[in-house]
Amino acid sequence: MATIIDGKLISQQIKDEVKEKVAELKSQGREICLAVIQVGDNPASTVYVGNKKKACAYVGIKSLAYELPEETSEEELLSLVRELNGKEDVHGILVQLPLPAHVDEDKVIQTIAPEKDVDGFHPQSVGALSIGQPGFVSCTPAGIIQLLKRSDIEIDGKECVIMGRSNIVGKPMALLLLRENGTVTVCHSHTKNIKEVTRRADILVVAIGKAKMVDASYIKEGAVVIDVGMDRDENGKLCGDVDFEDVKEKAGAITPVPGGVGPMTIAMLMYNCLCAEGMGKGK
Ligand code: GUN
Repeated sequence: MATIIDGKLISQQIKDEVKEKVAELKSQGREICLAVIQVGDNPASTVYVGNKKKACAYVGIKSLAYELPEETSEEELLSLVRELNGKEDVHGILVQLPLPAHVDEDKVIQTIAPEKDVDGFHPQSVGALSIGQPGFVSCTPAGIIQLLKRSDIEIDGKECVIMGRSNIVGKPMALLLLRENGTVTVCHSHTKNIKEVTRRADILVVAIGKAKMVDASYIKEGAVVIDVGMDRDENGKLCGDVDFEDVKEKAGAITPVPGGVGPMTIAMLMYNCLCAEGMGKGK
């Protein structure tokens, strides 16, 4: 039976650490501010944005909410982002994705000033990560590294396999595990004999967006299994990409859904906001 990695507990520790630092800055008259922009009313986005605002309130970061109608034009959104780029008292800018189809997401991401890019999606942030320079790191993969480190799971020299190659999770995850001296393989929908690859993994990160697809036949005995999925099962119940009940008997450690990776993403966003304050001019 696998050890359950408690993302709720670890994310709470991180939020409490951030909260302490935020209070320290506040006592020096420095207030951190995150601008959160949502376009339209995608219900999942509304939940995510609500959780981000709640986390800001908890750690003591001021949040500015911009709830724009679905019909907002690309130019209107870009000019809001430019305006926020120019505000010295706004330290982080987050544009919730997905955006409506008539807005070019890449263009919006590229307009965010890299020093305010708390999501770590700007090409400059991604480039810095790939060559080992300082910059913002995408919150979900950064949170997974924290889950592993704070659970005393060694990455150095381990076989790390990632299922999924998205810009938000799979690719930055590969770079972060490499930075920690893991031996990294990325699998995707065109990978041949995928189970042969995943069964080599000491650490398996699953980010494919398919409910309960990964069962025990994908897993090496004793492996650490990290489930990034946020799916619904046949009864509409929240579940991950991993068949938890099947895999927990074989894995050495596993993250549950909910309560695994999910809360870590928001904790790392709070951490990135704290770093963003330090990037302001003259600090
Ligand atoms: N949509 C789903 N996840 C995310 C995220 O981490 N950041 C943003 N901006 N949008 C998202």
